[in-house]
Amino acid sequence: MIQIRPAGQLNLAVLASGRGSNFDAICQAIERNELDARIKLLLSDKLDAPALEKAKGRGIIAQAIDPYNFTDRNDYENELVRLMKQQQVDMVVLAGYMRLVGTVILENYPNRVLNIHPALLPSFPGLNAHKQALDYGVKFSGCTVHIVDSGMDSGPIICQAVVPVLDNDNEETLSQRILQQEHQIYWQSLQLFAEGRVYLDGRRIVIRADV
Ligand code: GRF
Repeated sequence: MIQIRPAGQLNLAVLASGRGSNFDAICQAIERNELDARIKLLLSDKLDAPALEKAKGRGIIAQAIDPYNFTDRNDYENELVRLMKQQQVDMVVLAGYMRLVGTVILENYPNRVLNIHPALLPSFPGLNAHKQALDYGVKFSGCTVHIVDSGMDSGPIICQAVVPVLDNDNEETLSQRILQQEHQIYWQSLQLFAEGRVYLDGRRIVIRADV
């Protein structure tokens, strides 16, 4: 069993493609002193992502890097890694980042890239998770914080929250209720890393009692 990271304040980079509500929730947990972390920078692959303005409004370095300006994914990710290393980033937080993470980031941040997915993995990975859950007819869905590996939403699971699916739910209502849980479990999962309590046993995450 390996400890993923010793205890200590986290230096985070957030990668976001969209509105940035999870980013906001993480910022708020830091402001409340419930999460021992600093967000060193926010990077986006979308030039017009609302998350960029949210970050700037908080005085956080925010930069859009257009993947189409690079020859391939490695080239693009090398630039992201360069910017993150420049800021001494030690963990990478995907918050609505709509791209598969490639080997360059994963090799530079092994077991240190986290994602949140709006379903109970391994059910309903990939796009349109809420629609997948509604179409399937599950009675419970939820959200999952996991470590990112080279697959699609397939890495070791850190934390999940269960949300009932109501008979009259649609994608909008279900996603709103799941989002409320996302805004709790993402920063709580990060705090476990700050406390040095996250261990990996095969593909199983074990959260040790306070060390
Ligand atoms: C969330 O539903 C998250 O689970 C998924 O992308 C969405 C991002 O929302 N990965 P936001 O940009 O954090 O508001």
